[in-house]
Formats: sequence, C-alpha cells, structure tokens
Amino acid sequence: MSAVTLALAGAGLRGETYARHAVSSGLGRVVAIAEPDAHRRQTLAAEFQINPDQVYADWRDLAAQPRLADAVIVATQDRMHVGPAVAYADLGYHILLEKPMAPTEQEATEIAEAALRNKVIFAVCHVLRYTPYTRLVKQVLAEGRIGRLVSVQHLEPVGWWHHAHSFVRGNWRRSDTSGPMLLTKSCHDIDWLVYLFGANPTRVSSFGSLTHFRASERPAEATDRCLDCPLKQTCPYSAEKFYLNALADESQHFWPLGAITAEFTEPAVREALRTGPYGRCVYGSDNDVVDHQVVTMEFADGATCSFTMSAFTPMEHCHTRLLGTHGYLDGDGHTLRYVDFRTGQEETLSARTDAGPTAADGHGGGDEALTEAFLAAVAANDPTLLSSDATQSLATHRVVWAAEEARLTGTVVTLDS
Ligand SMILES: NC(=O)c1ccc[n+]([C@@H]2O[C@H](COP(=O)([O-])OP(=O)(O)OC[C@H]3O[C@@H](n4cnc5c(N)ncnc54)[C@H](O)[C@@H]3O)[C@@H](O)[C@H]2O)c1
Repeated sequence: MSAVTLALAGAGLRGETYARHAVSSGLGRVVAIAEPDAHRRQTLAAEFQINPDQVYADWRDLAAQPRLADAVIVATQDRMHVGPAVAYADLGYHILLEKPMAPTEQEATEIAEAALRNKVIFAVCHVLRYTPYTRLVKQVLAEGRIGRLVSVQHLEPVGWWHHAHSFVRGNWRRSDTSGPMLLTKSCHDIDWLVYLFGANPTRVSSFGSLTHFRASERPAEATDRCLDCPLKQTCPYSAEKFYLNALADESQHFWPLGAITAEFTEPAVREALRTGPYGRCVYGSDNDVVDHQVVTMEFADGATCSFTMSAFTPMEHCHTRLLGTHGYLDGDGHTLRYVDFRTGQEETLSARTDAGPTAADGHGGGDEALTEAFLAAVAANDPTLLSSDATQSLATHRVVWAAEEARLTGTVVTLDS
C-alpha cells in the first residue's frame, strides 16, 4: 500500500507529533507544510524533505493551491480551526483536526457540515479513544462482564504543574483567547465518557471555579517573576524550579519545555522566564479558566456519571470506576481491577502499555494509534476504521457546551436527543 500523502497546517507541538508518527509508521508522507514560525517551518520542511514549492507561511496559502495531498493535519490553535478545516474540506482533503473542534457550537457545526458535504474522512484528535487501555475497557463492557453500566465515577487529574504550565501561564489560560477549561482540556474526558456509555447524556449539571490561581491567594512576599521570588524554593509552582528541572531531563524537552523555548540551554530558558508568559507568578497571571470543575450527567436509561477535573493532583492517567449490574471495574489508565458479582472473584486486567499520560509520553499510546487509524482509514477509504466521525464529535462537543451553560447559569441543562 502506498503511503498517504499529508499536508500539515500548524507545525507546533501537536502537528509535529502527528506528522512524525505518520512518517515513522511508514503509512504517511508529509508533502506540504503551512507554518508562520520560520524555525518550526524550516526544521520540519528539511526533516520531511518537502519540496520548497510546497512550504507556506500560512494555512491560507496552502488553501489557495489545488489539493496537494490526500489528507491534511490541522493543528493550529483552538480559535484557528474553523477557517482551515472548512477550506480544506471544500478542497477535498481528508482531515485530522485537533480538538477542540472550535470554540463555539456554530463554528464546530460549520466544520462538521463541511466534512459531511464533501464526504471526506474526518477525525477529531480525541486520542484517548485510541489507547490500548480504552480498547480494553470497551472490550470488557462489550463482553457484558459487568452487566449494564449504571454509574461511572471519573477523575481527570490534570496535575499541579501541568495546570500551572498550560492553564495559568500558557495557551489555554483564558476563555476569550482559547476556551473554557472543560472545552480545551476536558472535551477529551466528556468524549471518552460518552464513548463508554455509547450514548449522549440527556441532562447535565456542573459546578466549578477558579479558586486558587488568583491575586487573592498571592503570598505577600511573592514577586511578579519567579526568577526574583524569595519563595522559589518552597512554592510548588515556581517556574524557575520547574523549567530548569525540565531542562535537566531530556525527556521533557519536546514537551513541556518546547512550549517556552526552541533552544534547550539555561540562558535561553532563563530569558524565556524573564520575558515570556511562562515566568509569571501563578497568582499574577491574566488567567481566568477554572482550576476545578465537576460535571454530572444522566443518560436516557437512568445511568449516571460524575466527572471531576482538578489541578490539585499529580499528573496521572484518569482514574475511572465503572459500576455495572454484574460487576465493577476500577481503572488507572494501565490496569483494571475487575470484580465479578456472580462469582465474587477478582481479577486484574492489563492493557499492553506503560506509556504515561503526558503529551511527551504520547497520551498513553493514543497519539500514535490515532495517527495510524486515520491513515489506515484514508488509505482504505474506510471511515469505520475510526472510532468517531464529524457528527459524533460535534455531539460530544455539544455536551461540553451544555455543561458549561449549566455551570454558568446554575441550572440543569437538558440535551436534545
Ligand atoms: N489532542 C490532544 O491531546 C492535544 C494536546 C494539546 C493540544 N491540543 C490542541 O492542539 C492544537 C495545537 O496545540 P499545540 O500545543 O501544538 O500549539 P502550538 O502553539 O505549539 O502550535 C500551533 C501552531 O500553529 C501555528 N500557526 C499560527 N498561525 C498559523 C497560520 N496562520 N497558519 C498555519 N499555522 C499557524 C503556530 O505558529 C504554531 O506553530 C490546539 O488546538 C490544542 O488545543 C490537543
């Protein structure tokens, strides 16, 4: 089978990840790139040996050409998805689109309609659907080993430093420049939970707020920049401590360090912390997204789900308890403790991966598996090789918007069937 040809729009940390997986799997070949950052653009154009005629500084320049590849990876930032996704769908590209689809329901609907109108293969990067662990959970549910799923309790442990990095200092700190935390982070969790239940909820409620990373919590001695702060040894959120430790650990260079500097030296890191957003005191940033949130969901058959997202944890895989009429599962992202009520027997079921939960670890194997599933679907022109399509992804995004509405209005929101 010949490799699927790919264009890459947005060659940041995510775009680079999928493009590299595509090439290393042998299933894909990157033949065009659109990226304004000259260093990123040139580095990847050289790495993938892209013809200079097909190297662009903007997704629009690529969209101005006739279709140059079978498929395109759209990995621009959250508020820059709708333009490229619709334009590329109209050109007939199959599309791998980063989550969230878009910040608003209207834009996400435009994207889904463009994918359907053009009959292109379309996948949102809900990588958690594709991990070996998720396959195991789905298999156990499908085999009926816990009977009918009645309740789920799910924890997204964002991690204290990851929260400070991405949601206090980083790209996803403000609702008006990216989106609410439930959309930018936990659209993954909501999508995953809906996937497990195999149905959308009928009613949702939600509570949550920004409780800690705000000026009122700032210690009197804290300074605006962590580099100057007398509390740097004891503050759990000290940027100096965190990023210099990351510099000393090569496995953290691509992520999270790659978000703050392209040069992995102490002077470059210190310069980024002195002048850039990642060196700011966590109590003095311009962030406004929540640092903890709960969502409850009710399904048509009466099943219920409670979901907690919190900054105040180690960064780990999600923890999930699935309570069924015949059995119980307690999962940690690698293994499942299974109790069968019919026999009273316990068993430990293991997914075949040790991959950690971070972007540096490939999200538990999900990044790689999603890339391969997408390329296989394009190569075979068979969308059933993917676990969700445009309509399903739009539906799970709608649950997120309904939950946000519930949180902001203090109401229980009923979803259309
Ligand atoms: N699936 C996941 O688990 C996951 C994890 C992290 C981030 N994301 C999502 O992936 C997306 C990208 O995140 P990232 O961390 O790679 O961000 P990033 O900032 O590293 O990458 C975005 C890239 O888009 C480029 N860009 C800006 N304007 C452009 C234009 N006009 N044309 C082409 N490219 C342009 C930027 O220069 C940058 O290199 C976001 O939507 C984010 O929410 C998904």
